[in-house]
Amino acid sequence: MTGIDSGAFHDFEQAGWERAAGFYGDAFGALTAQAAQPLLDAVGAASGTRMLDVATGPGFIAAAAAKRGASVVGLDFSAAMLAEAARLHPGIAFREGDAEALAFGDASFDAVVMNFGLLHLARPDAALAEAHRVLRPGGRYAFTVWAAPERAVAFGVTLSAVEQFGTANVPLPEGPPFFRFSDAAETARTLASVGFTGVAVRELPLTWRVVSADAVFDAMSRGGVRTAAVLRAQTPEALAAIRDALRRGVEGYAAGGSYEIPMPAVLASCRRP
Ligand SMILES: C[S@@+](CC[C@H](N)C(=O)[O-])C[C@H]1O[C@@H](n2cnc3c(N)ncnc32)[C@H](O)[C@@H]1O
Repeated sequence: MTGIDSGAFHDFEQAGWERAAGFYGDAFGALTAQAAQPLLDAVGAASGTRMLDVATGPGFIAAAAAKRGASVVGLDFSAAMLAEAARLHPGIAFREGDAEALAFGDASFDAVVMNFGLLHLARPDAALAEAHRVLRPGGRYAFTVWAAPERAVAFGVTLSAVEQFGTANVPLPEGPPFFRFSDAAETARTLASVGFTGVAVRELPLTWRVVSADAVFDAMSRGGVRTAAVLRAQTPEALAAIRDALRRGVEGYAAGGSYEIPMPAVLASCRRP
C-alpha cells in the first residue's frame, strides 16, 4: 500500500493543467510533438483508423493522426487545454474526459495512444485498463514517457538543482513516481498484467531545441504541474540559485545560437489480444 491520496493528486494535476494550458504548447510542444510519427507508426495509424488520443493537450498527436486520414478523437480533462487544441486544430473532434474512466464503449477504437500523459496520472494502472477496454480485439496501444532523469537532461538538471539549492520536500499531494514507466521491465510487466500482448519498449532520441538558456527554467516553472509547483514553493533566494544552476546545466549543449538538449523518451507499444 502507498500513502498516496489519488483523489487529491488527481485534483492537483487537473488544476495545474488548467493553469499551464496557455503556456504548455509554446514551452514543450516542439519537443513532445517529435514523438508523433513513431507513436502513430507503433499503432499503425492510417486512413480510416479509429483512434483515441488520450491526454491530448494541445492536440499535436491527434492532428498528426488526422493528417494520416485517421478518424481521431482527442481527449483531455483540462477544458483550457481543449480550448487550445480546438483553436490550433479546428477540424478535429476533442472531448473533455478522464483517462482513468473513459466515457466510450468497449471495443470502440482500433488504436489508443497517450503522449507524455501516463506519468501525470493519479491512477496510471486504471488508465491502462481503460485503454485496453476501449480497444477492439487486435487493436493497438502505445504511450511515451520521459527516459530516466540521468538521460532526459532537462529533468536531471532541474531535479539536481532543486536538491542542491532548494528543497524537494514541499507540501504537495503525493503522486505516483514520475519515472515509473521509464523502466522497460516495469512497463512490460504492467502492460502484461493489464492483458496486453506483444509488448515492445524502445527509446526515442528526442532533442529539445531552445533559444535561450533560461527557456528550460521558464518551461519547468510555467509549462507543467508537479515540477512547477515544487519551483513555486522555493524561497526567492533558492529559486534564483536554481535558475543559475539550470543555466549552467544547459550551457554545454549550446549549438550555434541555440541549445540542443538531449531528451530521450521511452515508447511502449502493445496489442489487445
Ligand atoms: C504533458 S501534457 C501532454 C500533452 C500532449 N499529449 C503532448 O504530447 O504534448 C499532459 C496532458 O495530460 C492531461 N491529463 C492529465 N491527467 C489526465 C487525466 N486523468 N485525464 C485526461 N487528461 C489528463 C493534461 O491535462 C495535459 O493536457
